[in-house]
Amino acid sequence: MFESYQRATLPEEVRRRFGGGGRIVKLASNENPLGTSPKALEATRAVNGLNLYGDDAYPDIKERLAAAHRMRGENVVVGHGSNEIVKLVAETYLQAGDEAIVAVPSFLLYRLAIGVRAATAVEVPLRDGTTDLEGMLERITPRTKLVFVCDPNNPTGTAVTREAWSAFLQRLPPDVVLVVDQAYREFSSADVVDAIADVARRSRTLVLRTMSKIYGLAALRFGYGFADAETVEMLERIRLPFNVAAPALAGAAAALEDRAFVQRSIANNEAGKRQLFPAFDAMGLHRYPTEANFYALAVPASATRAYEDLLQEGIIVRCGDALRMPGRLRITIGTEEENAILLDAVERLLPSWKT
Ligand SMILES: Cc1ncc(COP(=O)(O)O)c(C=O)c1O
Repeated sequence: MFESYQRATLPEEVRRRFGGGGRIVKLASNENPLGTSPKALEATRAVNGLNLYGDDAYPDIKERLAAAHRMRGENVVVGHGSNEIVKLVAETYLQAGDEAIVAVPSFLLYRLAIGVRAATAVEVPLRDGTTDLEGMLERITPRTKLVFVCDPNNPTGTAVTREAWSAFLQRLPPDVVLVVDQAYREFSSADVVDAIADVARRSRTLVLRTMSKIYGLAALRFGYGFADAETVEMLERIRLPFNVAAPALAGAAAALEDRAFVQRSIANNEAGKRQLFPAFDAMGLHRYPTEANFYALAVPASATRAYEDLLQEGIIVRCGDALRMPGRLRITIGTEEENAILLDAVERLLPSWKT
């Protein structure tokens, strides 16, 4: 049997389980706590002509995305969320018996996409909470077709160093397709690798980005990727026609122009780090250094116990046991108020976790 994607608990499930109409704080899916880019929202609402099929080549949005990253339209692939492109790349390059390399813990979808192709996911454990690029190189065989690198990595939030990245790129065999999922890169400091710059230097490098996080458009489903024109052409042959809906195109185009919303989102995330991290340090709770809009917090109890206790308080986080990250919770950085509610609950529950 294939593994299935395990989504976060939803607020309505918590209400059903525990009753009451109290406030639920969801810090479980790394969504944007400020909502959606207002410009994007307005643009999606203004869409009409829904009776018509559009241009399935998506020239307008491809040009806009390319211009935003000093690339060309022929280097862009668009998807129904970046998740669709993960599936697409596995469909395009993997057959039964092939191998694809993934970090563990990392984003679960890679393993699911590999499994559906009856290929083998070769798992490389993180080293000190960070993607072990050297370890990945060591696991390459003649059967290796794909390598998935999530940077910053979900669920740890960690990013590789520039030195480790350059060394990895130099040694990675040129025929291997490299997928770099940078869903959270917009939240990162300038030190973090921007792999889009590597697309021009290395063929068969596909860098994924999404509108779901920094632009607050998770429900609109729009993701995109950059690669050399030949790789894009391969993916285009497999992708379904009209895979991106007209409202998603309109929303994505407007979101790209909304620098103010991006800046506010980054500022909220940075403020959240300043609010949360010294407090967790004072409680003696370890977390990996994060370059994303979430963090992996160690708890002195089983992750399931801590997750359940927080759920009873109306706070939804991700349980590390479900993410192959035992002893930790993955928690999204929220608004100031949401972070304060979480801090208060953790402080109250902590003594019971230690017994
Ligand atoms: C590593 C990673 N990639 C991609 C995504 C987003 O996918 P999509 O663009 O399909 O919403 C997520 C969202 O949780 C993620 O954590």
